[in-house]
Amino acid sequence: MKVLITGGMGVIGSEAARKFVQEGIRPVIYARHRDGSLIGDIEDKIDIELGDILDLPRLLQTLKKHSITHIVHAAAFVGAVSQQNPALSIQVNVMGMVNILEAARLFEIKRLVYTSAKGVYGPVTGEHGHPTFKPLPEDHPKNPIRIYDSAKLMGEYTGLYYQANMGVDIAILRFATTYGPGKTARHGDKGVTSQLIESVAAGKPFRLAQGGDKTDDFIYIKDCALGIYLACMAEHPESRVYNIGTGVGATLQDFARVLRHHFPKADIEIGPGFTPSNIYDLTRARQELGYSPQFDLERGIADYLERLKQQPSRTA
Ligand SMILES: NC(=O)c1ccc[n+]([C@@H]2O[C@H](COP(=O)([O-])OP(=O)(O)OC[C@H]3O[C@@H](n4cnc5c(N)ncnc54)[C@H](O)[C@@H]3O)[C@@H](O)[C@H]2O)c1
Repeated sequence: MKVLITGGMGVIGSEAARKFVQEGIRPVIYARHRDGSLIGDIEDKIDIELGDILDLPRLLQTLKKHSITHIVHAAAFVGAVSQQNPALSIQVNVMGMVNILEAARLFEIKRLVYTSAKGVYGPVTGEHGHPTFKPLPEDHPKNPIRIYDSAKLMGEYTGLYYQANMGVDIAILRFATTYGPGKTARHGDKGVTSQLIESVAAGKPFRLAQGGDKTDDFIYIKDCALGIYLACMAEHPESRVYNIGTGVGATLQDFARVLRHHFPKADIEIGPGFTPSNIYDLTRARQELGYSPQFDLERGIADYLERLKQQPSRTA
C-alpha cells in the first residue's frame, strides 16, 4: 500500500500521516507549500512532494513516481478566508476534487478517501436539533449555507458520480466539529475550542460573550485520523458516506469544566446562548468501517495539553 495525503501538513492531514506512520506505512504528503509545524516528529518517516491540487500534471507525475495505490484528499481552502473568496473556494474545493478524481481514475487508485464536513447538513432543527438531539443519520436532508460547505457537498456529489460512472472507489467522511493542535493559527474563529484550550494552558484569560450552551459533537483530530485510516482499509464500504464524530454532545462549558481539572485557577468566562447544532449517528461508520471513537472530551483535552507541552510550536 502506498498512500498519498493531499494537504498532509494541515491539521487533519498531518494527523492522518502520523496514524499511517504508526501503522508502519510511509505516506507521501502532497502540499502546496512546506509547513513543518505539525509534522516535526514524523518528518523522517514521510515523503513530501510540493504541488497544488489544481496542477493536474504535477499530481499525475507524483502518483506515478511513488506508485500510489490510495489517496486521502485532505487539502482544502478552509476557514474565514474561504468564505470571503467564493471563487477560489469553489476552485480549490470543487475543481481540486475533480483533479483528484481524474488522477484516481487514470491510475486506478484502490481507494480515495474524501474529507468532508458536517457543514453539508446546514443548520439542523426539529427532532435532530436542540434540545432533543436525536442522532443525525447520513441521509438527513442537506442544506449548506456557507460557500465552503456547499463546495464540500459538491465535492461529495462529484465523488459519488465518479464512483458510480467511472469506477473510482471512494469513501466520504463527514467530520463532526474538530478540535486539536494547529487550528488556532489556521482556522481563525473556527478554532474556538483551540483558543480556549491554548489560552488556559498559557495562563491567559479566555472570554467569549455567547455560545456556552451550544451542544455539539466535538471530535478530537486523532479520531479523524482513525476514521481516515479505517476508511482506506475497509473492504466493503457499501454506503460510501460516513459520519465521523463521537455520537456524544458536549458544550464549551464542558470544555471549561475539564480544563479546570487541569488548571483549577483557569480564568474562563463564556456567556450563554446557542446556534443550531446536532449530534451524529455513527451506526454506519461503526458497522462498515469498524470505527469507534477513542477520545472522549477528557482524553482529547489531556492529549492536546500533553502535545502542547511536548511541542508548543505545533500550534504555530
Ligand atoms: N478542521 C475542521 O474542523 C474540519 C472539519 C470537517 C472537515 N474538515 C476537512 O478536513 C480536511 C482537512 O482540513 P484541515 O482542518 O486539516 O485544514 P488545514 O487548513 O489545516 O489543511 C488544509 C491543507 O491543504 C493545503 N492546501 C490548500 N489548498 C491547496 C491546494 N490548492 N493544493 C495543495 N494543498 C492545498 C493547505 O496548505 C493545508 O496544509 C479538509 O478537506 C476539510 O474540509 C475539516
